[in-house]
Amino acid sequence: MFEVLPHLAPDPILGLSAAYREDTNPNKIDLGVGVYKDEQGNTPILSSVAKAQKMLLETETSKTYITPQGNQGFIDGMLSLLLGKSSPVLLSDRVAAVQAPGGCGALRILSELLVRCNDNAKVWVSDPTWANHIPLIGSAGLKIEKYPYFDKATASIRFDAMMETLRQVEKGDVVLLHGCCHNPTGADLTNAQWDEVLEVAKEREFLPFIDVAYLGFGEGLDEDAYGLRLLIENLPEVIVAASCSKNFGLYRERVGLAAIITEDSKTRNIAQAQIQSIARGIYSMPPSYGGALVDIILADEALNNEWVSEVNDMRERMKTLRAMLVKNLHENGSPKDFSFVNDQKGMFSFLCITPEQVREVREKHSVYFVDSSRVNIAGINQQNVETLAKALVSVL
Ligand SMILES: Cc1ncc(COP(=O)(O)O)c(C=O)c1O
Repeated sequence: MFEVLPHLAPDPILGLSAAYREDTNPNKIDLGVGVYKDEQGNTPILSSVAKAQKMLLETETSKTYITPQGNQGFIDGMLSLLLGKSSPVLLSDRVAAVQAPGGCGALRILSELLVRCNDNAKVWVSDPTWANHIPLIGSAGLKIEKYPYFDKATASIRFDAMMETLRQVEKGDVVLLHGCCHNPTGADLTNAQWDEVLEVAKEREFLPFIDVAYLGFGEGLDEDAYGLRLLIENLPEVIVAASCSKNFGLYRERVGLAAIITEDSKTRNIAQAQIQSIARGIYSMPPSYGGALVDIILADEALNNEWVSEVNDMRERMKTLRAMLVKNLHENGSPKDFSFVNDQKGMFSFLCITPEQVREVREKHSVYFVDSSRVNIAGINQQNVETLAKALVSVL
């Protein structure tokens, strides 16, 4: 039976990790997969998470099933974190939500919901966007279109072109926006640009689909929620897929949230039942463990403060690494001005070099990142930054 299946090319990012592992160069550098790394190159368990694990071990009394909706404490905590504690939308009972298996699970549940609403719906994604958006949304059966987002030649957002496309989007179309720390470019909308996106969303009556996977990694937990909150507070309907993989460091535990902001509380109840039935039909219920940890952290004041400071540390470290890279490139005689890297946000940067240059730096200097020139900033450290800068300059 299975011989009819076509051969699939390996996932480029996983292939890159495998090539990195096999490389025997002691000075090899991995800037590929998007996980946070500390100065030693490790992805440690956050101290707030370690403490929550101990608490959970002492208090958990059963491993019986949870519900398709997931942990209500987790959902409430996450909604307060994303929307703000005193969000008028939360107070007016217009939010349906489920705990999902990671941000990916949330993206998929919401895509399935969109299909149930209109199986001809078009989803507009930024060009470029995170590669996995395409299979996650497309496999649900939705059509994907692109709006211009980033210009490699100028290393900046093509905001006018983006707006021109959004002005032609039809009523009922869906527009996927990265809440913060755009993956792969690291180029985020300014608050003033979000204000303009709100106006065009009102005018065209499209549905914003906000993917927020790096809250706190850009400028701060509240600062990074500016666009998300603006749209949610000023539009009748918005959908949100959130991930706890990066900011809680809970990658393998698969923790995320799918939320739907509806026009009124009657529609909220309908949407709630629908997303629960979608979850039931795919994986029945989310894994419990990671959501329980996030619930403990967000509900406990001391633990919450500790987590906030850990997020702040990760963010500040990545900003320092950006500055270190730009400085080292300059000092090693780069003919290209990389100062735009300092303005990009979160874990990723587009270096805006060609795929040929990316391959050359990989082959000659064992520096691994994807052909688009996206680098994981957290893979840089004091030890490797000079080697990295010299390698990059040598291929420019
Ligand atoms: C833009 C974006 N959205 C969503 C996700 C989903 O993450 P996860 O499913 O690991 O929570 C990621 C992870 O890399 C991402 O970069």
